[in-house]
Amino acid sequence: MIKAAVIGHPISHSKSPLIHNYWIAQHGLEGSYEAIDIPCETLVQDIAKLVEGGFAGFNVTIPHKEAVYELCDELGETAHQIGAVNTVQIKGGKLIGTNTDVFGFIHNIKSEESEFRFDSGAAVVLGAGGASRAVIHGLLQEGAPEVIICNRTASKAEVIKGSCIAPERVTIAPWDRRDEVLENAALLVNTTALGMKGQAPLEVDLSLLPQHGLVTDIIYTPLETDLLKAARARGNKTVTGIGMLLHQARPAFRAWFGVMPDVTPELRSKVLAA
Ligand code: ATR
Repeated sequence: MIKAAVIGHPISHSKSPLIHNYWIAQHGLEGSYEAIDIPCETLVQDIAKLVEGGFAGFNVTIPHKEAVYELCDELGETAHQIGAVNTVQIKGGKLIGTNTDVFGFIHNIKSEESEFRFDSGAAVVLGAGGASRAVIHGLLQEGAPEVIICNRTASKAEVIKGSCIAPERVTIAPWDRRDEVLENAALLVNTTALGMKGQAPLEVDLSLLPQHGLVTDIIYTPLETDLLKAARARGNKTVTGIGMLLHQARPAFRAWFGVMPDVTPELRSKVLAA
């Protein structure tokens, strides 16, 4: 019996148990995946309980991604670069931290828009929070010639540029120039919270975005954000954010259960309906 979990606070909203338990059943494995609510104050003790309890590992979500990074005994290269861990493998009592968000972001686009070339032009990234680090890392790794970060707080974009794998390919633009920087962009990614259900709308004018520019949002509530609607209305291709969630789970599942699972249409519908 292989046991895994997702830890976070709050955690009841997490769709990860549905995803992993779907794959456990699909592959006929003896396993379990549960959501465990862990507040910051008891993080260290509660992780020790998972180790003692024989867990194969766990996913990490808000607010523990940076704290768990510090607690790991070993780190994968991507986790080390990004400074955040979303997947932990427990091996011989040791915590091995990895980050599968980069894989999730890139493979979502690759599977939805297989003809898109990351090296075909500049990528504009709105936002410079935790999620944007993974997005920018992935874009640079995939050969984007330029990544333009537009964030309300420019200093946060500077920090990401300073610690990324290819700062010479990163440009920082002021938040109020987000419409202008779309000229010549091959890709626009929203990583801000704007446009999410319950949040303020994202105000961006797509007029200068080339017709071939691909637009993606990492938000998936709603599935089709106003940004994606506006992009589609003017003929641009779009990729929704749900696939990033689904694809980031694949390498984590493989790490614990030894099988690389697929994102099936049935899984996608189940997660969207949940
Ligand atoms: P996540 O881990 O999901 O990336 P986060 O680290 O809280 O979340 O980042 C949220 C992002 O949304 C940030 O880029 C934030 O901009 P600031 O760095 O200036 O805070 C952006 N964001 C949130 N509310 C915003 C708003 N009203 N206007 C512009 N950007 C906003």
